[in-house]
Amino acid sequence: MAVSKLSKLGVNKADKNMKDPRIIVALDFPGQQQAIEFSRKVTPDQCRLKVGKELFTSAGPALIEDLVDCGFEVFLDLKFHDIPNTVMKASSAAAKLGVWMLNVHALGGSAMMQAAREGIEAVARRPFLIAVTVLTSMSARDLQDLGISTPLPQLVDQLATSAISTGLDGVVCSAQEAPALRASLGDAPLLVTPGIRPDWAATDDQQRIVTPQQAITDGASYLVIGRPITRHANPAQALEMISASIS
Ligand code: C5P
Repeated sequence: MAVSKLSKLGVNKADKNMKDPRIIVALDFPGQQQAIEFSRKVTPDQCRLKVGKELFTSAGPALIEDLVDCGFEVFLDLKFHDIPNTVMKASSAAAKLGVWMLNVHALGGSAMMQAAREGIEAVARRPFLIAVTVLTSMSARDLQDLGISTPLPQLVDQLATSAISTGLDGVVCSAQEAPALRASLGDAPLLVTPGIRPDWAATDDQQRIVTPQQAITDGASYLVIGRPITRHANPAQALEMISASIS
């Protein structure tokens, strides 16, 4: 969809003096129309937007470009994991879309993460590149089944350390892992944390939830929040309530 068409739909334009909102709203919608409808209800000053595999596969790069053109900073959550050359080219293509942040799996190895880093270097406004360590959906038993005997917290720390020493900007982690990662990685790396629930919101299918205030206190840099905002009757109000609680 062309930008002009989006503008007619009423998508908010960014303010030149954009703030640095800590909240990244997960646009877990099946298609472009729902994503556009949601983006009309919030502003780039209030939040960034995360586009994952479902929405990207359905709506394609044009949606990313349109959201970016309308002033939103976009986290493209495609978790690249492939041979280094392929990840370098995919990362370069993502960066050229103008995304603010993208990610890879640390389990792809340091050569792959280095290639991703090289892929985004040439872009004028380089996006943040972060790594997924161990998916929070995986248990210690799942790791055993894969032949990985390293205890889960140690593996998370090892992969995060590898990502940062390869030059990545940060990691995606559970807010419950944030204090240990801050202790081991220091203050500089970005910690991007899903599994966030304000105390007024339903937990949905999240198991190990943390409130926005607690996540920030524990060292999170950015909070990924979906349904408490996207399913709220007034998403802008939900965002304001969460922002106020962490300001
Ligand atoms: O709606 P909710 O706040 O649970 O959405 C959380 C978002 O964060 C979803 O897009 C989900 O895929 C993502 N995520 C997660 N847990 C992880 C990694 C990503 O919930 N470990």
